[in-house]
Amino acid sequence: MRKVVSVCLILLFAHLIIIVNSLNPTLDDDVLGLIVFKADLQDPDGKLGSWNEEDDSPCKWEGVRCNPRSNRVSALVLDGFGLSGKMGRGLMQLKFLSKLSLAKNNLTGSIGVNIAQLSNLRIIDLSDNSFSGRIPDNFFEQCGNLRSISLANNRFSGQIPDSLVSCSSLGVLNFSSNQFSGLLPSGIWSLHGLRSLDVSDNLLEGGIPKEVEGLNNLREINMRKNQFTGPVPDEFGACALLRSVDLSENSFSGSLPSTLQTLSLCTDLNFHSNLFTGEITEWIGELGSLQNIDLSKNMFSGAVPNGIGNIQPLRILNISNNGFSGSLPASMINCKNIQILDVSWNSLTGFLPTWVFRLGMQEVLFSGNKLTGSINGAVTSSIDVSHQNLQVLDVSHNELSGEIPSDIASFSSLRFLNMSRNSLMGQVPETVGKLKALKSLDLSENKLNGSIPSSIRTCSSLISLILSRNNLSGQVPVAMAKLADLEYVDLSNNKLTGTLPKPLANLIHLVTFNVSHNHLQGELPAGAFFNTISPSSVSGNPTLCGAAVNKSCPAVLPKPIVLNPNSTGSDPDSIPQTIGHKKILLSISALIAIGAAAVILIGIIFITVLNLRVRSTAARSSAAVPLSGGDFSSSHTTDTNSGKLVMFSGEPDFSTGAHALLNKDCELGRGGFGAVYRTVLGDGRSVAIKKLTVSSLVKSQEDFEREVKKLGRIHHPNLVALEGYYWTPSLQLLIYEYVSGGNLYKHLHEDEDRNRSPLSWNERFNIILGIAKSLAHLHQLNIIHYNLKSSNILIDGLGEPKIADFGLARLLPMLDRYVLSSKIQSALGYMAPEFACKTVKITEKCDVYGFGVLVLEIVTGRRPVEYMEDDVVILCDMVRGALEEGGVDECIDERLQGKFLAEEAIPVMKLGLICTSQVPSNRPDMAEVINILGLIKCPEESDNN
Ligand SMILES: *[C@@H]1O[C@H](CO)[C@@H](O)[C@H](O)[C@H]1NC(C)=O
Ligand SMILES: *[C@@H]1O[C@H](CO)[C@@H](O)[C@H](O)[C@H]1NC(C)=O
Ligand SMILES: *[C@@H]1O[C@H](CO)[C@@H](O)[C@H](O)[C@H]1NC(C)=O
Ligand SMILES: *[C@@H]1O[C@H](CO)[C@@H](O)[C@H](O)[C@H]1NC(C)=O
Ligand SMILES: *[C@@H]1O[C@H](CO)[C@@H](O)[C@H](O)[C@H]1NC(C)=O
Repeated sequence: MRKVVSVCLILLFAHLIIIVNSLNPTLDDDVLGLIVFKADLQDPDGKLGSWNEEDDSPCKWEGVRCNPRSNRVSALVLDGFGLSGKMGRGLMQLKFLSKLSLAKNNLTGSIGVNIAQLSNLRIIDLSDNSFSGRIPDNFFEQCGNLRSISLANNRFSGQIPDSLVSCSSLGVLNFSSNQFSGLLPSGIWSLHGLRSLDVSDNLLEGGIPKEVEGLNNLREINMRKNQFTGPVPDEFGACALLRSVDLSENSFSGSLPSTLQTLSLCTDLNFHSNLFTGEITEWIGELGSLQNIDLSKNMFSGAVPNGIGNIQPLRILNISNNGFSGSLPASMINCKNIQILDVSWNSLTGFLPTWVFRLGMQEVLFSGNKLTGSINGAVTSSIDVSHQNLQVLDVSHNELSGEIPSDIASFSSLRFLNMSRNSLMGQVPETVGKLKALKSLDLSENKLNGSIPSSIRTCSSLISLILSRNNLSGQVPVAMAKLADLEYVDLSNNKLTGTLPKPLANLIHLVTFNVSHNHLQGELPAGAFFNTISPSSVSGNPTLCGAAVNKSCPAVLPKPIVLNPNSTGSDPDSIPQTIGHKKILLSISALIAIGAAAVILIGIIFITVLNLRVRSTAARSSAAVPLSGGDFSSSHTTDTNSGKLVMFSGEPDFSTGAHALLNKDCELGRGGFGAVYRTVLGDGRSVAIKKLTVSSLVKSQEDFEREVKKLGRIHHPNLVALEGYYWTPSLQLLIYEYVSGGNLYKHLHEDEDRNRSPLSWNERFNIILGIAKSLAHLHQLNIIHYNLKSSNILIDGLGEPKIADFGLARLLPMLDRYVLSSKIQSALGYMAPEFACKTVKITEKCDVYGFGVLVLEIVTGRRPVEYMEDDVVILCDMVRGALEEGGVDECIDERLQGKFLAEEAIPVMKLGLICTSQVPSNRPDMAEVINILGLIKCPEESDNN
């Protein structure tokens, strides 16, 4: 209330003063004038707090300066005080004001008061406010003393008043960034004292008249971004003191007058985005002070004049988007200070000049010309100079040929490299990985071949990678998944093969990822960006599958086997160091890494051959069935009498006689080597007797006995002990320890019939471990089993597994691939792929393969090969597929649901997959397998048991 009253009083008082003042001009009214001025303002920051109406003098007030002799206010500088409101008439009382600066405030409204009439005022700066409206026509009428006026960056509109001609002392005029329209007042060209004229960024029209020659003191002219038209008159050359000329972004036309050569002090010449035509001739070489020349976006033609090379201080030359032709003058090697050269989108011909990389430029842009030859020449000829400055290199859309020089690596600061749309050949150099600062790489539309180098992983700043429309082959490197900033990837229209690495799904900034029209196969990475990838980004890859291509993925695609489902194995960095919850042995990692790349190719061949084999061995084993009891019974009567029975334990108590033992009713099962019968010895002990059906292949009695005795000496808790043998030339029996619990096959696949409770997880793990231990033992003795299968694994009363039939292959006179694969390794699905490949040596690793299949069989409860209605499901391919899709838990035997330890079961399955690697050397050996199993086993769990 009190404040309102006092403000009213002041206003009333002010009017009084104005009246009084007109009567008595000597009255010192600066205090009251300023108080009235303040009353029109809002001062949210309290910057004018020191302005107190009770003071005698305003000279100590913030922003106020006085003439020391007269003590009258000479300057009011309130720049950036955060003031808003209007500029009121209180100012008119400051008769001795010479400088008024209210820049960078929030002042609004039109200029109601005619401040220019303050006869002492020399400087007005109202820039960066929100003043609006027209400038009153008479505003400049008495501005004879005005030296500088800036109304820049407001919202003034309408015409600039003709009265401006009265400001005969004006040196600086800045009306930039308003909405002034119409013609410039003609008087402006006769302001001889004008040194700086800035009317940029308005809506002004008209041209530059001949009278411009009157501005012979002009240092700077900026008419940028208006609607000016017409030519630059010859008389422009008369403004010989000009330092900076900016006529850009208008519609000026015609050719530049050669009189411009008189502007020898000029540093900046900006004519871009106009309609200029004609040639730039040698006059430009006379402008010896030029630092920046921008002639871009016009219609200039002809050759770039040789004289450019005379301009020593030149830093930026932009002649892009014109019709310049010919080649750049060799004299430019003299432009030692040049930093930016943009000659793109002209019709320049010839080679990429060799000086281009010798001048230490930051930006070199040659795109959209007709350059020919190789870029190699220019790069290698400058190999002696430092290339550290170059940040931008664009030679796109030319006719360059040859290879991308590997010396490109020396451009260590390069951020942007565009070589697209040329005829470059050869490979993307491996050295590209040295470009650590590179953000954008575009090599599209060339003839590049070879694969995308995995060194790309070290281009860690990369945001945009465009390699489309080349002949690139090979896989998309998993290394790309390391480029965390990637946003734009275009690899379309190449010949890329293989699957897309799953870890690409980790690239969270992806905006586009175009791999259309390649030969990619298999499943798209799942997750993140790839769940919503546009179908057009993946189209044209006939064997790519996944939701985005509307095609479900078959489960039997051969893939490399790795522990980490996120890795495709071609990247050594991504070799996982852990399996389950513990460290894996490095040797295995290394094995996997080395072999993985080869696996894909070999895998495809193997799977095909394997499938053929599976069919043919199936046919053969069914043909072998009649070799049973029948022919035996016809021969045993003669043979058994002359036969030789040996029990290793030294108790040849075979009282019942061999022929009576081999009672069909006591048949326990049949294997690749023959049928097995159970019989009871004299002492009441059960034994299992195997009648060898491969008799025609058996060696001489001597060899047979020697080998059998060796086998008899092998003792291991997880091996079925061989207790003796019986030999005649036509009948051989092997006498084994009898294992009561039946075989693993029955436990896994026939428990429903037998009313047995399914094997628990711990039992299964124990069986796997037992098998592994016995195989390791055999391998240590150089014995290869060759015939692992679940029906050959017996389970004793304590649940311990015991491997049967080991070492029998040694009884064969010849042990060749054919015999092994057809006679012995008859079991469907357990046969290692190398049996089908003549060039791969068969080693104990074939047992590791069989073991791997067993592991998967034990964990999943499914047979190694299952025949569905119209499909054959190969167990290891199914599990591998599930692992890659991330649904591996679903493979685990459903009878275990809720009763298994995922942190054991999943690593065990991965181990099984590694053991079934296509390439034998990728499989671990059994000793390593035992170590891994030991690591997988959770200690807590084994303590509990
Ligand atoms: C100008 O005023 C607006 C609101 O009217 C405010 O948001 C802005 O911060 C002010 N600017 C300055 C420079 O004080
Ligand atoms: C005109 O004023 C604007 C805004 O304050 C400023 O950016 C520009 O540099 C001035 N022009 C000249 C020629 O000084
Ligand atoms: C050269 O001028 C063009 C058109 O005015 C512009 O787009 C381009 O960015 C300029 N080049 C450089 C390197 O600044
Ligand atoms: C590279 O140059 C081509 C042709 O000049 C252009 O179309 C493309 O957009 C450029 N690439 C990038 C990443 O700027
Ligand atoms: C695989 O990638 C997924 C998604 O990024 C992640 O959650 C998972 O932990 C990764 N698995 C491994 C074994 O690295």
